[in-house]
Amino acid sequence: MFTTYLSSSFSLIVILFTSLIFISISSLQTPKHYVVYMGNPIEADVHNSEAYYLQMLDTLLPREESERRKGVHHYKHAFRGFSAMLTEEEAAALSGHDEVVSVFEDPMLQLHTTRSWDFLDSLSGESSSFPIYNSFHGSSDIIIGVVDTGENTITSLTLLNRDSQEIDSRSIWPESPSFSDKGFGEIPSKWKGICMEGPDFNKSSCNRKLIGARYYKSTGATSARDSNGHGTHTASTAAGAHVVEASDRGLARGTAKGGQPGCRIAAYKTCTADGCPGSAMLKAMDDAVHDGVDIISISIGLNAAFKSDYLSDPIAIGAFHAELKGIMVIASAGNDGPIASTVTNVAPWLFTVAASNIDRDFQSSVILGSGKVIRGAGIHFSNSTRPKAYSLVYARNAAAASKPVEDARTCLPGSLDPKKVSGKVIVCVMPRDAVTTKQIIKVVVEDAGARGLILVNQKEKIRASDFGHFPFSEVDMTDGYKILKYMLHTKSPTVTIVPTVEVKPTKPAPVVAFFSSRGPASLTENILKPDVMAPGVLILAALPPPKTAKPSTPKFGLASGTSMSCPHVSGAAAFVKAQRPSWTPSMIKSALMTTAITYDNMRRPVTNTSGLTSTPHETGAGEISPQRAINPGLVFETTTQDYLQYLCYFGYSQKTISKTLNKATKFSCPKKTSKDLISNINYPSISIGNLRRGQRKMIERSVTNVGPERNVTYVAHIEAPEGLVVKVAPKRLVFGENVDKVSYKVWFYGEKSASKRYHHGSLEWSDGYHSVRSVFSVNIN
Ligand SMILES: *[C@@H]1O[C@H](CO)[C@@H](O)[C@H](O)[C@H]1NC(C)=O
Ligand SMILES: *[C@@H]1O[C@H](CO)[C@@H](O)[C@H](O)[C@H]1NC(C)=O
Ligand SMILES: *[C@@H]1O[C@H](CO)[C@@H](O)[C@H](O)[C@H]1NC(C)=O
Ligand SMILES: *[C@@H]1O[C@H](CO)[C@@H](O)[C@H](O)[C@H]1NC(C)=O
Repeated sequence: MFTTYLSSSFSLIVILFTSLIFISISSLQTPKHYVVYMGNPIEADVHNSEAYYLQMLDTLLPREESERRKGVHHYKHAFRGFSAMLTEEEAAALSGHDEVVSVFEDPMLQLHTTRSWDFLDSLSGESSSFPIYNSFHGSSDIIIGVVDTGENTITSLTLLNRDSQEIDSRSIWPESPSFSDKGFGEIPSKWKGICMEGPDFNKSSCNRKLIGARYYKSTGATSARDSNGHGTHTASTAAGAHVVEASDRGLARGTAKGGQPGCRIAAYKTCTADGCPGSAMLKAMDDAVHDGVDIISISIGLNAAFKSDYLSDPIAIGAFHAELKGIMVIASAGNDGPIASTVTNVAPWLFTVAASNIDRDFQSSVILGSGKVIRGAGIHFSNSTRPKAYSLVYARNAAAASKPVEDARTCLPGSLDPKKVSGKVIVCVMPRDAVTTKQIIKVVVEDAGARGLILVNQKEKIRASDFGHFPFSEVDMTDGYKILKYMLHTKSPTVTIVPTVEVKPTKPAPVVAFFSSRGPASLTENILKPDVMAPGVLILAALPPPKTAKPSTPKFGLASGTSMSCPHVSGAAAFVKAQRPSWTPSMIKSALMTTAITYDNMRRPVTNTSGLTSTPHETGAGEISPQRAINPGLVFETTTQDYLQYLCYFGYSQKTISKTLNKATKFSCPKKTSKDLISNINYPSISIGNLRRGQRKMIERSVTNVGPERNVTYVAHIEAPEGLVVKVAPKRLVFGENVDKVSYKVWFYGEKSASKRYHHGSLEWSDGYHSVRSVFSVNIN
């Protein structure tokens, strides 16, 4: 019966009335945590106030449920709304309210580090792959808000991934030397944030570098302290101070530093054991906007399988309002690669970051009894300086009685005969299904007493991962055969696994990380995502010290993930912003995109781990180059109007979109709207999700001259793939004293003979000094 009520337009009185009807029904339902999103804050403060939200809840919720009537979070700075425990009917009733844009169940977002989350206890060295940052000293007034992990163990995710450690990660470890404020000036006066206290965190835990910290009680946290990792790692990657002579056990001595050592950091801790509740993420972004941050760095996202639209995606909502206020939001693309269409955080107002390796790798070689050296991957610290030779056994020949040799070959639990393995180094073949290397090590050590493991990896490009003290080496198929051949032809084969060494420079680099999530974006293929790529494989950054050590003990570790690449871009954006303070987020984003590098350190196009030339669906515009981004020549400015038109084209109604805005903002959707028009918003890259063979499509863009010369002419250079004809007009862009913005048109024509798939290329504008590269991806079908 109340379905009819629900579909009609609501007033509070109707809500009151219906709520009386369904009290008895709703009491049977368990309330769940919902977010009620109400758009931009209203000038008149009363409508943004807690009291106002309470009133909305009051009329709706049963009188005896006083706890629920208080709500959980109230949002009021960047956007309006609240979160509360509601039944499905109550949520539906609220979604009919005039001022409500959307109501959605509090989603659980995931950390983006879980793939290959390989902390290394013992390494330290130079953390930055951008030597240019060395030249930047002193403090800047740029504040990076790092929205990051919660306090408990992330257990639910470990099953999904190879080599993931269980993470007990909190927001920040304040005593780390990476957060020292030595040489820092006064805290900028724009800062309005706080340093929230907890049992192990007090006002003196913050300083002129780590200027603020917040945590959220609704997540179960009692302090912003980071006891084991992730938040400290990401914050120090973005903006860690220089720490010289950082070293552990004498390995890889060097200077550790973040992307932008002069930046201030504010930490927002939002996660729990199960992930990061969207309601707390929204609160953190609302607070960050209020506190006065310039950049928000989020290494968290919805699972790629969770197809939510923009109005039920907390990061998209929070970032939209941050963007309206001139705050840049940078987010990780996710670690669900190399499968296509796995990229998350794909709203056009977000800066979405993929991950690459850097020019450093770690090698764990094995020396066969014959003297032959095989270079494998892996990070381990077997403590002996003179490693011993052990007998070598192939797992397939060490099956336990009555166990299939095929199980033994891949070292499945219970498949090995300890008598045949104990005291030897065992060769296992990596199983195809989701078994982690750590699980295999557990099997061969605990079940069978092996002294070392050589793992033959059949499919993935080998990545160095941390395996503590256990002698370990991972080799590819080719080397695996060499080892087996040696064993076959030798009476008593032996092997020595030597300790890990750092290999630098590694070539090629950058290479797209295997785990990095790929485009095209599933919500709309008419915006190219991810946007850029940055280092995210085995990144060294600060960690909390061991429990027994002094809190200020320097401690560094390696981690991999788009979680690690995201703060690199946050640091890079802060670097650009420090040099170009008047630039908007979209200008900074454009500068980092159009100057990105598409060649590796062997001067060849960037490849993926299969060794094949990468596409913009893997790299976006390419690997960021902060130094080049300071002088992009031209920028694509994506305005609020562009984003709003985007929402129209995406399919939201004028009414819904207006609710997200200030009453004062005049906006109406264009008469003609269609998803195809999304390709036309002024974005630094171009994506066309659907171009029929024989069809022509025109795209418009405009560029703004930010170069040193007013009178300057740019000339077009197109690189078009076979099957796609690309034309641009005008071919020359002429800027003058009074002309700093020029538009152009690009036509894409899919040839009749073209193969049905994505075709990629680029349009580059050059004045002989600057080159402004805009990548495009066109799906011909
Ligand atoms: C809290 O502050 C006091 C002095 O103000 C200091 O001695 C103590 O170590 C601090 N505790 C923490 C956990 O930072
Ligand atoms: C590398 O790129 C090629 C061509 O786009 C693709 O077929 C292959 O699956 C990619 N490999 C990985 C590991 O992503
Ligand atoms: C290395 O040292 C650790 C701790 O001292 C010890 O537990 C481990 O057994 C040693 N490993 C080897 C291979 O000797
Ligand atoms: C730019 O061109 C205009 C018109 O040709 C000229 O008047 C002006 O002096 C030029 N400015 C510079 C800086 O060269």
